[in-house]
Amino acid sequence: MSVTGAEIGVIGGSGFYSLLDGMTDVAVTTPYGDPSDAVAVGEIGGRAVAFLPRHGRGHRLPAHEVNYRANMWALRSLGVRQVIAPVAVGSLRPELGPGAVVVPDQLVDRTSGRAQTYYDSGAAHVQFADPYCPAGRAAVLKAGAEAGQAPVDGATMVVVQGPRFSTRAESRWFAGQGWSLVNMTGHPEAVLARELAVCYTALALVTDYDAGVDAASAVSQAEVFEVFARNIESLRDLVCRVVPTLPVPSARSCPCPAALDGMTLPFDLP
Ligand code: ADE
Repeated sequence: MSVTGAEIGVIGGSGFYSLLDGMTDVAVTTPYGDPSDAVAVGEIGGRAVAFLPRHGRGHRLPAHEVNYRANMWALRSLGVRQVIAPVAVGSLRPELGPGAVVVPDQLVDRTSGRAQTYYDSGAAHVQFADPYCPAGRAAVLKAGAEAGQAPVDGATMVVVQGPRFSTRAESRWFAGQGWSLVNMTGHPEAVLARELAVCYTALALVTDYDAGVDAASAVSQAEVFEVFARNIESLRDLVCRVVPTLPVPSARSCPCPAALDGMTLPFDLP
């Protein structure tokens, strides 16, 4: 089957540049500029899927230079209504070691200067108390458990601006707040999905202990890339198991499709 649109989106993280063989690249542009790369569309278990490498193929774009608005708009304009978003994260907890897979349930924004809304005019204030789709989270947890690799259910992910990693003091402060994971791309991706009424589920792979946990050393970029690369096949396998279990867009029973109900939007949604 030749697929030109998609209902489910996957945004690949560091080193995650392709999802399946035989996908078709589609060049998409948006009112916000170009997304990180061409979007690859294909099919998993009868479901049309769009894959977008967050940093561009070859990791051209550091986290603070990613055009998150264009990425999410491009996916929605292809028909995507649910996004699964693998991300590399540092751990703030000794019990969450490299290789652990976590489905976060909260985030804290410590970024600055990133375009983080589509609604620079009008009055569209989406709810973001629970930043992730409950149905998407449940689907990932179930698929992981059925595959014998049950992910950790719930964690607060603090999103830092980067591109540098955190100091030991920052890292210890994050942990002291009760936060468990640290990353550079989780915001504003999740809120932009909500602003387009798209379900969004983060799928976090722990690549390192952040500086405050590991007193003997500090996280390095090479370590992050190496651990992510080592675990990419199992992440890909988990994504491929989750996709067929997600509800079709018209059958979504989570709150996400109603995120904009009653609001006057300055544009038509793509
Ligand atoms: N991504 C992966 N590991 C990270 C860390 N320790 N800090 C910030 N972002 C990360």
